Amino acid sequence: MQDYRNFLEEILIPTDKLQARITELAEQINADYQGKNLHMICILRGGILFLADLMRQVDLPHTIDFMAVSSYGTGARKSTGQVRIALDLKEDIHDRDVLLVEDIVDSGYTIASVLEMLATRHPRSLKVCTLLDKAERREVEVPIDYRGFTIPNKFVFGYGLDLDEYYRNLSFIGTVNPEKYQPP
Ligand code: IMP
Ligand code: MG
Repeated sequence: MQDYRNFLEEILIPTDKLQARITELAEQINADYQGKNLHMICILRGGILFLADLMRQVDLPHTIDFMAVSSYGTGARKSTGQVRIALDLKEDIHDRDVLLVEDIVDSGYTIASVLEMLATRHPRSLKVCTLLDKAERREVEVPIDYRGFTIPNKFVFGYGLDLDEYYRNLSFIGTVNPEKYQPP
């Protein structure tokens, strides 16, 4: 695989800005979930860095769980609208205050389907926290309760988000120069 520096177009959100915004989101969550039964659900795999940094700043007793859904495969850059559960939650969410933690809302199909599936399991409340919102690309309306950044319609990678499954480890969000990137 190529070194990301060969195709990085620009650093859209540097590490310090990401972390500062995550601190603000955590403060909002701390205020809103006082006395509640907060259960954060991370959608794998893109949401892991975000969850890990966010939960360190959530100063309330809470639990976490993971689920994986697949919306499209390697190489494809567009949601199909078809989402299936690839890995289900370990725990029952009945009576819990569920906060879905996502890396990015793009077309909206993934979150819309996940919300629909989870609502049938009767959580006490169900909200969405996304780090990134590619609002221009929305095809289906989804409620976003906590939003890190609204970003332009560009393919981004880093901080959990992959480019053909690589580069999730980077501590910033970058955009790709498609002329310089060679897919595997
Ligand atoms: P949606 O169903 O179209 O909203 O897509 C959501 C999923 O697509 C996210 O959870 C990401 O895994 C992936 N995705 C969408 N845009 C990007 C991007 O710019 N970079 C990396 N992954 C993306
Ligand atoms: Mg992905």
